[in-house]
Parts: sequence; C-alpha cells; structure tokens
Amino acid sequence: MNIIFLGPPGAGKGTQAQRICEALNIPQISTGDMLRRAKKEGTPTGLRAKEYMDAGKLVPDEVIIDIVKERLAMDDLKGGYILDGFPRTVPQAEALDTFAVIDTVIELDVPDEALVRRISGRRACPQCGATYHVSMLGGRETCEKCGETLIQRADDQPKTVLNRLRVYHSETAPLVSYYEAKGLLHRVNGEGDMDAIFAEIMKALQA
Ligand code: AP5
Repeated sequence: MNIIFLGPPGAGKGTQAQRICEALNIPQISTGDMLRRAKKEGTPTGLRAKEYMDAGKLVPDEVIIDIVKERLAMDDLKGGYILDGFPRTVPQAEALDTFAVIDTVIELDVPDEALVRRISGRRACPQCGATYHVSMLGGRETCEKCGETLIQRADDQPKTVLNRLRVYHSETAPLVSYYEAKGLLHRVNGEGDMDAIFAEIMKALQA
C-alpha cells in the first residue's frame, strides 16, 4: 500500500508514520528527514535547502521532486511506503502522479493553536529521526531508541513556526481537495491520545 500523510507542521505525521510503518513493515519516506540529513552532510542539495528550511519556506519543487523520484525507484519499496511531508504543493502532487500510484491519503487534522504548543516542545533525535515532546521525556535528554542526545530543530523557533503554518495554509492545504476529488482522502482527528489516533489511522487504511 502506498500512503501519503498530509497535515500541517506538528500534526503528528512523523510520530504516526513511524508507528504505522512498524505495524505494516513498510518504509517511511520523510522528505524533511532526507533534507535535514543532506544539510548535516553538507551536500549541494543540503546547502541549497538550508536557507529555505531555516526560514520556514518550502524547498523549490524541482529540487524535492527529483529527490523523491530517485527514492521511489529503489527496491525496498515493493511492499509499499508512507510518504511523510511529500507532496506539499499541487505541482509536486501532479509530478508524483507521473511516477507513482497512491492508494490512500491520510490527512491529520489539528488546529493551529495546538500545533504551536506541540512544535515548541518537540525534541528530535538527529541520529534516527525519532521525535518526542518534552512533556513525555520526564527530564531525559537522550533518544530511547538509539541513545543519541536529543535536539530542538532549527526551524522549531516560534517565528519560523508561524511562517511554516502560513506556508501550509497557502501551498499545501489545496492538496486536501486535490486528493478528495480523486476519492483517496481519509481525514483523521489528530488531537488526543496517540494510541487512539494510531487506531483511527489503521481503521482508515483498512476501509
Ligand atoms: P518536515 O520535517 O516535513 O516538517 P513539517 O511538515 O513541518 O512537519 P513536522 O516534522 O514539523 O511535524 P509532524 O507532523 O511530523 O509532527 P511530529 O510527529 O513531529 O519539513 C521540514 C522542512 O523541510 C519544511 O519546512 C521545508 O522547508 C522542507 N521540506 C520538507 N518536505 C518538503 C517538500 N515536499 N517540499 C518542499 N520543502 C519541503 O509531532 C510534533 C510534536 O507533537 C512532537 O513533539 C510530538 O511528540 C507531538 N505529538 C505528536 N502527536 C501528538 C498528540 N496526539 N498529542 C500531543 N502531542 C503530540
């Protein structure tokens, strides 16, 4: 099953994509993680992406489309995958239609006020990509999966978060009607207990 996770920054796409990927034994393809890795390694793509990401803007379509196209051609995806963070614009969705067949789109719906609270408390593992909220860490500063010291993402500063939300509403939200028109969209309430949201997504995937 080829799945897209759609939703604003902080909606829980990464959190739930990791859980669903474990449950279905399929890879998670997070364009944000791929770009952060490229940035850390100082590749030409990473250096180009840095200025956009740090300002809370989208990386240009032509850059990200090529990266995803290359990734989706790899052999480990025969059993399906979750796209987390792609597509994010209508041109990206149209490009995706030319090189992939998507079975279902999960939209995680969370109001803006809750997103700002979540993002400002997020801590991320720079090694394996796991994410946590400070409220569930109980003072711990390392990743429970790989032991690496957790960090706060550069684009999780309040001013940048507001810009990311603006960009989501103008550039990415139109994808909701794009996939609704194709009959692929399942809207899931992304507020509340993480286990309950997981169960709701699994139910939508089995529908
Ligand atoms: P990306 O990394 O994709 O960031 P994003 O979409 O802004 O999403 P986030 O990672 O912020 O949020 P999430 O929905 O995954 O939430 P999470 O599960 O972590 O992209 C970063 C940047 O890369 C972009 O700004 C752009 O510059 C560039 N980029 C990437 N893809 C691109 C593309 N296709 N085109 C162009 N540019 C692109 O959860 C957030 C927090 O909430 C965590 O602390 C978590 O523990 C907590 N939480 C999760 N669920 C719950 C819950 N139910 N209740 C309470 N807290 C919760």
